Amino acid sequence: MSNVLSGNVAIVTGAGQGIGKATAIRLACEGADIVVAEYNLKTAQITASEIEAVGRRALVYHVDVSKVDMVRQMVKDVMHDFGHIDILVNNAGVSEIKPFMDITEADWDRITRVNEKGLFFCLQSVAAQMIEQVPDEVKRAGKASRAYGKIVNMTSISGQRGRPLHPHYAASKAAVISITQSAALALAPYGINVNAVSPGVVRTPLWVKLDEERARLTGAKRGESMTAFLEKVPLKRAATPEEVAAAIYFLCSPESDMITGHTLNVDGGYEMH
Ligand SMILES: NC(=O)c1ccc[n+]([C@@H]2O[C@H](COP(=O)([O-])OP(=O)(O)OC[C@H]3O[C@@H](n4cnc5c(N)ncnc54)[C@H](O)[C@@H]3O)[C@@H](O)[C@H]2O)c1
Repeated sequence: MSNVLSGNVAIVTGAGQGIGKATAIRLACEGADIVVAEYNLKTAQITASEIEAVGRRALVYHVDVSKVDMVRQMVKDVMHDFGHIDILVNNAGVSEIKPFMDITEADWDRITRVNEKGLFFCLQSVAAQMIEQVPDEVKRAGKASRAYGKIVNMTSISGQRGRPLHPHYAASKAAVISITQSAALALAPYGINVNAVSPGVVRTPLWVKLDEERARLTGAKRGESMTAFLEKVPLKRAATPEEVAAAIYFLCSPESDMITGHTLNVDGGYEMH
């Protein structure tokens, strides 16, 4: 527990479970009040209760990040309830295992509208509000001596290589790296830092689902795809959601004020191969 982020309001999308939940709790433990932005209200409420238990304010906002109108309404509602927005963790994402030649138009749209379009418009909507909050003299100067907002986007090691068993997911995560760099350049004059975190294998409900889908496709046993993947990881283990949350916290904290446009791997060394 610290007060490093005290006074900050952080939106975490997909905070109902997995990496988003661990991040919401970590940011709260460092002093931030949390916007739990989720389309699963049941899990969102549980996250909010756990945040309140550590003594921070948490409100649940029912939002599907792929719907731009809902995202814009959420920003308005957060402003009404909290008065400012300082941090955005663009974490909500979806994936599935499906061979390259079987991907349909509907599959492509289902994955990319959350991971790519949803992430972009969430970032743009929140950035518009963050810019409003930047003092006029900073806007006039076109440079800031400290950070006025922090945005962290979730990409994946899948966005850095070809992935024949989820090409639509890989493309959407490659897009996140590009969006991160474009946003970092567009928002730098306002002192708004934009970075990405790129996990490898993380033990979350999403990974369990992908492992089951892979098992159905290949005839492997449950857990086998995780074990096979971890053999290629130099540190020979999966990350915990809390380890990913620690990297996200760093990129939200003043310690990273000079870092923008960067993609930070949290992959046990996997991307060196
Ligand atoms: N688990 C991994 O190994 C891994 C690896 C690399 C990257 N990632 C990325 O990290 C992020 C979180 O992954 P996770 O493993 O915690 O996933 P998860 O499926 O366990 O949790 C994702 C959360 O996002 C919410 N969500 C999904 N779509 C949404 C939408 N349209 N609007 C609002 N909420 C939505 C879900 O309800 C869920 O609570 C994702 O972007 C994922 O692609 C995960």
